[in-house]
Amino acid sequence: MALHVVDHPVLQDILARLRDRTTSCEEFRILAHRISLLLVAEATRDIPTVVGTVETPLETTAAQRVAARVVAVPVLRAGLGMLEAFLDLVPSAEVGYFGLERDETTAVARRYYEKVPADLGSAVVFLLDPMLATGGSAAMAVEGLEGMGARRVRLVSIVAAPEGVDRLQLAAPGVEIYTAAVDRQLDARKYILPGLGDFGDRLYGT
Ligand code: PRP
Ligand code: URA
Repeated sequence: MALHVVDHPVLQDILARLRDRTTSCEEFRILAHRISLLLVAEATRDIPTVVGTVETPLETTAAQRVAARVVAVPVLRAGLGMLEAFLDLVPSAEVGYFGLERDETTAVARRYYEKVPADLGSAVVFLLDPMLATGGSAAMAVEGLEGMGARRVRLVSIVAAPEGVDRLQLAAPGVEIYTAAVDRQLDARKYILPGLGDFGDRLYGT
């Protein structure tokens, strides 16, 4: 598995504002969208393209177009904050949903909903989940997607903990992780430190 930490100054500036406890829910959503654009651009950097032509107002020239079948799968709820950015950049993408919720006391994830396009095996699947904490949710989602036929899965996250990276690496060595930061550690409640708090709660104001 490869870990890609996207160290772009503009992206890191957005991350700083996402971390800030005084950032409002409204601003948090805008920032989540913006940082996702930059992460998705990096995560899709090497997807297959086909070369054709395009007519400019002046002449015909060679042009590259995305040729891969792409499926985006946001993990409910927090991953929804990244979906629109994904579709802005890859409008032809199909979309699946994976519902997971961590138990507040044990931090163990539970599957509660899933609906994905058919024939995942012929697609590059991008799992969207902003927080990779213990890695339990991501490992469960990847296992679920592979069980439904996916063969190429990439995780796009915003903040990861070393524990989550290690766990996903063990559970799914073929998965590539794209993230803006690998933070220091988890706290006793399995929240990422320094992190940005509860992403879903900050996104939806719950
Ligand atoms: C958060 C987050 C991940 C998960 C990460 O979701 O979006 O899915 O926790 O934690 P883990 O790596 O320890 O499994 P949460 O369960 O809080 O649900 P929500 O998105 O509905 O708020
Ligand atoms: N989920 C979050 O939203 N934040 C964390 O720090 C860990 C899990």
